Amino acid sequence: MQQLATDIFRPTMHFTPPFGWMNDPNGLVYINGEYHLFYQYYPYGNKWGPMHWGHAVSSNLLNWEHLPPGLVPDETGMCFSGSAVIDWKNSSGLFNDAEQPGVMAFYTACIAPSNGTDGVQMQSLAYSRDGGFSWEKFEQNPILANPGLKDFRDPKVIWHDESQHWIMVITEGQEIGFYRSADLKSWEKSSTFGHEEGAHDTLPWECPDLFPIQLEGSYETYWVLIVGVQGGSFAGGSGTQYFIGQFDGESFVNHHEPETVLWLDYGRDYYAAQTWSDVADGSRVAIAWMSNWQYANEVPTRNWRSAMSAPRSMKLCKMDSGLRLLSEFPKEWGLETQTHPSSGTSLNQGQFLKLSDSYQAGVVNATFTLETGSELKIAPFGNESLVYIVCRSETGYLLTTKRVIADEGEENYQKTFASNVTLELPKNDELNLVALIDRCSSELLLQQGEFCVTDLSFDSYVSGYELTCIKGTVKLASLNFCAQSAVNPIIKAA
Ligand code: FRU
Repeated sequence: MQQLATDIFRPTMHFTPPFGWMNDPNGLVYINGEYHLFYQYYPYGNKWGPMHWGHAVSSNLLNWEHLPPGLVPDETGMCFSGSAVIDWKNSSGLFNDAEQPGVMAFYTACIAPSNGTDGVQMQSLAYSRDGGFSWEKFEQNPILANPGLKDFRDPKVIWHDESQHWIMVITEGQEIGFYRSADLKSWEKSSTFGHEEGAHDTLPWECPDLFPIQLEGSYETYWVLIVGVQGGSFAGGSGTQYFIGQFDGESFVNHHEPETVLWLDYGRDYYAAQTWSDVADGSRVAIAWMSNWQYANEVPTRNWRSAMSAPRSMKLCKMDSGLRLLSEFPKEWGLETQTHPSSGTSLNQGQFLKLSDSYQAGVVNATFTLETGSELKIAPFGNESLVYIVCRSETGYLLTTKRVIADEGEENYQKTFASNVTLELPKNDELNLVALIDRCSSELLLQQGEFCVTDLSFDSYVSGYELTCIKGTVKLASLNFCAQSAVNPIIKAA
């Protein structure tokens, strides 16, 4: 079956399910040269429903091939979010006669009674003998029974070399539980992290991830703990925070003051971020669900709902503000932009520039300098549906994101989708921007990727990327642009 991306909102450079509902990325693992992407999937409707693990693979993180769902719900429960690892040394003993290393997927089995009360969440496992293409649920599931918690989910499993143990991190209400295991099947709890640390809300934390990362330009290693905050993010609703610290195989110690909140993204639509496990060159690539629980079920697409963000490779750097993760679009994409004829010129008050006038994906790579008091409007869709106002103050740059409802949608979407959020960028002479626009989204990676801002926008009347000088003078120190042809228009399905 082939399905063309004729739908006006269906992105051309972002992953979408062939049809039906999608939320979190799950089970991200790199096997035999391919990135496997599993995802929370309900194929029989365009709103959240009994969860499957949808499945796709890609060798370049751009062109995806759809595969049949990896896990489907049954009497043992729905298949909520989780992770996957390669069991290189057969720690589980499940792959004695296997031809290639086995793959283990950890997911939350959720059994929900039909009377509308909360489901019971427990951790289960499935395994694959053919490199991640077909899966069997483990007979002795669950591997971790519910300890009496309403929210006990989203297991992320990693190998911890120093202690020679497997580690699992799990959402436990508004904290993260740390567990360890020698055989990937029996787990013991070692610690809990999160009480009074980072951003909290009344809703549970979700979808943790944990990984080591070397500080650029040094031999020092830090540990990063990623945590989804279902409500109360920087821009409102769901968002993804991270902690930098140390992990000794048993507990995580935050390097920052407990009240410090670090956001992987400052937009409305970057949630449940996870990173690929077992990537050959050790790089850390994250992908997130490009939506927000506040309105995800009601955005105006029809036979599919939700896209993933662009994958982002991350590095840890010492910035003026302290240790920070910096993001960039994957090198596998080989994005090339061309110098725009206006590069090196200036825009004065009232002048504007249109970078493209077609309705397709595009990449901007630019450095601007604004005189104090100057204002630049960036309109990725060439209209008012989503605009960024950049303003240079005495203390640095301020970026205000204004989003309005541009197309019809359901009532709750009408109430919650609009936003007006200001982000302060630390003092810096230049504003450095890499932006990716697609049919219903805009992702900005600002100041070398220290500040990322991802927002959806649904407007059927778009006219191309526009830059307008509203006030003062904007120097376009360098301006590069590339209209990407629809690189992902054909979605193959097995
Ligand atoms: C996060 C989440 C997870 C859960 C899944 C259910 O978006 O709520 O905590 O496992 O979605 O689909």
